Amino acid sequence: MKVDVLLGLQWGDEGKGKVVDVLTPKYDVVARFQGGPNAGHTLEFEGKKYVLRSIPSGIFQHGQTNIIGNGVVLDPVLFREEAESLERSGVDLRSILKISKKVHLIMPTHRLLDAANERAKGGSKIGTTGKGIGPTYTDKISRNGIRLGDTLHNFKDKYTAARNRHLAQLHALGEDPDITELEKRWLEAIDYLLTFDIIDSEHFINRCLRDGKSVLCEGAQGTMLDIDFGSYPFVTSSNTITAGACSGLGVAPNKIGEVFGIFKAYCTRVGSGPFPTELFDETGKAIRDKGHEYGAVTGRERRCGWIDLVALRYAIMVNGVTQLIMMKSDVLDDFDTIKACVAYEINGETITDFPYSIEEEDLKPVYVEIPGWKTDMTGMKSTDEFPKEFNDYIAFLERELMTPISIVSIGPDREQTILRKSPLLNK
Ligand code: GDP
Ligand code: IMO
Ligand code: MG
Repeated sequence: MKVDVLLGLQWGDEGKGKVVDVLTPKYDVVARFQGGPNAGHTLEFEGKKYVLRSIPSGIFQHGQTNIIGNGVVLDPVLFREEAESLERSGVDLRSILKISKKVHLIMPTHRLLDAANERAKGGSKIGTTGKGIGPTYTDKISRNGIRLGDTLHNFKDKYTAARNRHLAQLHALGEDPDITELEKRWLEAIDYLLTFDIIDSEHFINRCLRDGKSVLCEGAQGTMLDIDFGSYPFVTSSNTITAGACSGLGVAPNKIGEVFGIFKAYCTRVGSGPFPTELFDETGKAIRDKGHEYGAVTGRERRCGWIDLVALRYAIMVNGVTQLIMMKSDVLDDFDTIKACVAYEINGETITDFPYSIEEEDLKPVYVEIPGWKTDMTGMKSTDEFPKEFNDYIAFLERELMTPISIVSIGPDREQTILRKSPLLNK
């Protein structure tokens, strides 16, 4: 068996949580492979809404195993809040959730360092989610991190050494925090975390594959936030691309099957950093209002703009996307015309390959304008109901991106999802 991967192709918040939930019944296992509680994955069904941060989005279907893989960074305090709230809603988490021994732990001092680093950057701050992601992955890569499995051996010594090192770093940044209370809650949360099934998840997943079970890997963030291929340094600290599923779960590259690339019919970004197609006008505001574009984790306003096909082509390339999923087209239901960026103009030169930097001041998006469909599509049940202009828009995107669009999402609810037989799938 192969593992399928579902990941974001833009700057995050594409709707990954919703679609993982929709696809879960086709799989035996759902696994998160990177990121941490910087993610906020929203699911809506039966009139209820849930936001998941560290726990995979496959927990609400029919008893599939859900795994938090080794590539994830986990904050025990936030995990506890999330898990307790789900258990209160009636989810029997303990019977379906397994956590890798190799996840790195986010410590209270990592969060303080995240905030202090941002303050020190001043005007050039990244606009992180403040969850300690950067400092935790920094410790992982510099071989100073603490893994969940470490809680089983000499944990207090390892924890104290890491905490003291962080406090020295905070002092160097002019900060002298009192962490007594934070530390107490964190250590209690570790005990809570250890009541879950802590496993060698790489063995578990590979055994599942050998036994013919199917696995869906759930990405967090998006390709434009990837540490290598995103808009560095305004990125997150993990590999959000398909390769991240290999290293974040211990799955070999030749085990990757379908790669579902998910994107919005427009584009958003939260936090700082370049965004070539950003709209600062009434249209941007209309997209934000209609699409409720406010962060699921931080509540921050998301920056909105037109779809960027230069960036999408790049994302499809580095991920090996085999099928596309288009989200939130309903947000554009009222628009007379829609724009799509097909190239960039830099220094008077037109380019279609995503460049080294998109921070150039004279970078201008080259747009084509497409007629809108001017139809409320939110109640539609099948592709037969799609208006002609909408089909034309999809055909245009498939031509430009040379990849089939096999799912279209027309609203936040689980039910507002339409599977589509793309003509490209037969080629
Ligand atoms: P994720 O981080 O990729 O899982 O995405 P988020 O949950 O952060 O953001 C997506 C937002 O859009 C959530 O509020 C979803 O409920 C909502 N959403 C998902 N799909 C659709 C859609 O097709 N139409 C509309 N209007 N909202 C959607
Ligand atoms: P999901 O999984 C959107 C952004 C932050 C910031 C940058 C670095 O819900 O799509 P970090 O806290 O990771 O060090 O912040 O990355 N960011 C996200 N933006 N969706 C996310 O996750 C994000 N996770 C991080 O806003 O610009
Ligand atoms: Mg999100």
